[in-house]
Amino acid sequence: MRPEFDVVVVGPGALGRVFAARLASRMRVALAARSDERARELERGFFLAGPGGREGRVFLPAFGPEAVPPARWAIVLVKGPDTETAARVAGRVAREGVVSLQNGWVRERLRRAVGEGVWADQGATTAAAKREGERTVWVSPGRTWLPERARPLAKALTAAGLPAEAGPEVAQRRLEKLAINLVVNPLTAVLDRPNGALLEPELWGVVRELVAEMQPVLAARGLELGEEALLARLREVLVHTASNTSSMLADVRAGRPTEIEEITGVLLGWGRELDLPLPRHAALYRLVRATQQVHRGEAFEE
Ligand SMILES: NC(=O)c1ccc[n+]([C@@H]2O[C@H](COP(=O)([O-])OP(=O)(O)OC[C@H]3O[C@@H](n4cnc5c(N)ncnc54)[C@H](OP(=O)(O)O)[C@@H]3O)[C@@H](O)[C@H]2O)c1
Repeated sequence: MRPEFDVVVVGPGALGRVFAARLASRMRVALAARSDERARELERGFFLAGPGGREGRVFLPAFGPEAVPPARWAIVLVKGPDTETAARVAGRVAREGVVSLQNGWVRERLRRAVGEGVWADQGATTAAAKREGERTVWVSPGRTWLPERARPLAKALTAAGLPAEAGPEVAQRRLEKLAINLVVNPLTAVLDRPNGALLEPELWGVVRELVAEMQPVLAARGLELGEEALLARLREVLVHTASNTSSMLADVRAGRPTEIEEITGVLLGWGRELDLPLPRHAALYRLVRATQQVHRGEAFEE
């Protein structure tokens, strides 16, 4: 039987709404929300402002977790802590495969949660979006990398204005994105400063130390960039996003859970497997968790 939808976006937040709205210009797209109530709200339409400043109300079919109909592809765009719940829904409905474009490293968790017999993998994206009250602002189309198997999805995204490619390069892009996030997210979250602050000489020294510490671990996982190349990429990103608030800082300020487990937590696990100590990243991990607890008004816990 032909699936009812081409793509279902599981996690209709800032980025999920952008991907869904763009793809809907070319194919049948549905949203999978956290609950029936959230689905009903979404079906009443959401405001989306494009990078060109155009703004409009977007209407898409939306479903609660139990009601999501079959689709060819599912794109998972929830925050890290919600990965399993979202991936289970995605695995149940997707006929051709499940692709996560989340930040951090969720590949193994995603595959476990979608279940046997469903192809699932993680891509990487530099597309950007944010929520401003009721509005979703599409900040930039960026670039998206997907595994070879998801080539039809990459074609559809490109045609919809979100440049995407599929192929083996995704392996490097995933690790590079993680490397950038490993420095930018926790540091800005702890310092409560925009990305560009990390270019200040004193903080750039800290960036250097964090890169030197993590590079051997990432290299053991396949990252081809050496220390200097990684620093050059970081500088480029920081210059380009100097006035941006990182997602982890935004989460800390809003009292939401952060993606520290999917970012630094994963690196620390890899370091333990390799017997490579990561004292600076371990300290940053603890600091982010403590900062998060302070903002959430929680008691400190080990
Ligand atoms: N925003 C960006 O520019 C950007 C760029 C690159 C990568 N990313 C990554 O993309 C992911 C999503 O980021 P975002 O900024 O779009 O986050 P977000 O705005 O917080 O959106 C996440 C959405 O997922 C929904 N959700 C949570 N659990 C769910 C479930 N079980 N089923 C269905 N929906 C569920 C949330 O619903 P509620 O609203 O009901 O909680 C929320 O709408 C993150 O990993 C982020 O790091 C984001």
